[in-house]
Amino acid sequence: MAKAIKKVGVLTSGGDSPGMNAAIRAVVRSCAYHNLECVGIYRGYEGLIEGDFVSLNARSVKNLINRGGTFLKSARSPEFRTKEGRKLAIDHLKKAKIDALVVIGGDGTFRGAIALGEEFNFPIIGLPGTIDNDINGTDFTIGYDTALNTVVEAIDKIRDTAHSHNRIFLVEVMGRDAGDIALSAGIGSGAEVILIPEQNMGRDRLVASLKRNKKSGKTSSIVVVSEGDKVGKNIFEVAEYIENNLDGYEVRVTVLGHVQRGGSPSCRDRVFASRLGVSAIDALLKGESNVMVGIKDNKVVSVPFIETIEGENEIDTELIRVADITSI
Ligand code: F6P
Repeated sequence: MAKAIKKVGVLTSGGDSPGMNAAIRAVVRSCAYHNLECVGIYRGYEGLIEGDFVSLNARSVKNLINRGGTFLKSARSPEFRTKEGRKLAIDHLKKAKIDALVVIGGDGTFRGAIALGEEFNFPIIGLPGTIDNDINGTDFTIGYDTALNTVVEAIDKIRDTAHSHNRIFLVEVMGRDAGDIALSAGIGSGAEVILIPEQNMGRDRLVASLKRNKKSGKTSSIVVVSEGDKVGKNIFEVAEYIENNLDGYEVRVTVLGHVQRGGSPSCRDRVFASRLGVSAIDALLKGESNVMVGIKDNKVVSVPFIETIEGENEIDTELIRVADITSI
């Protein structure tokens, strides 16, 4: 029979995302509700390897739900990718009498969890925390909604100046290899063209599309470029290419960068993170392990870690159609 869970560790790992604090808060308070002890682990797997722990109670997480970033801090840990690193981690967990872990992060975090769970048969639940929305098995990830709002707010401002000067703006957004941020923020900001890695448009079709826009009477254009897109990797070169192949337009580039990772989480992210934090402890108490808790069709679901990181990022083809139609 599985060992009863009395003490839970929680950590955030990989790129931070708005709403991680809300998720930690929900985990900690859910532990308090169920009379479990809770331990915060600083700097993700790095802190786990070093035994950098802090005891948390319901009051430790006050005034946190509205704060961006993660108060437990985050890191990407190369050492945790080694068996020796993971052995140090498990020794610290045993020494601190921690019976189970909740890890909040993206695919790298889940890969680490799979290795630790398999090698030491340790109960772990994952929560999807990344702005990229690139985790299979959940409709959204914690921080994605806030990042979208940040991008849309920025592009609204860029549109003002693009319109005043009759310019084309290339706006690079994050997402690593996934085009979700670009596609949804592109639709939400009324972008003329959206470049995503899942659908390779290339420079020539981009220029052709901008020419069509001009012909149809548009005097400025916003092109949202996902950083993972082939064109996105050389955005300044592309700007030059457009200027050389399209008369009458100046082109400017804005790389939004890490501003997309910060800021106070949206209400949607706060509620989402709170639901997931509570569900993570429910899952542990039901004896679940090696799964991510996510939301599918507005219902809490448990998905084996391995399924969350398999295959390519799936892009919503209906959204692509909406973008195509609404940008003519
Ligand atoms: O995974 C989140 C993310 O912000 C990606 O969108 C981006 O490619 C990457 O992290 C940037 O990583 P770093 O903060 O380590 O530069």
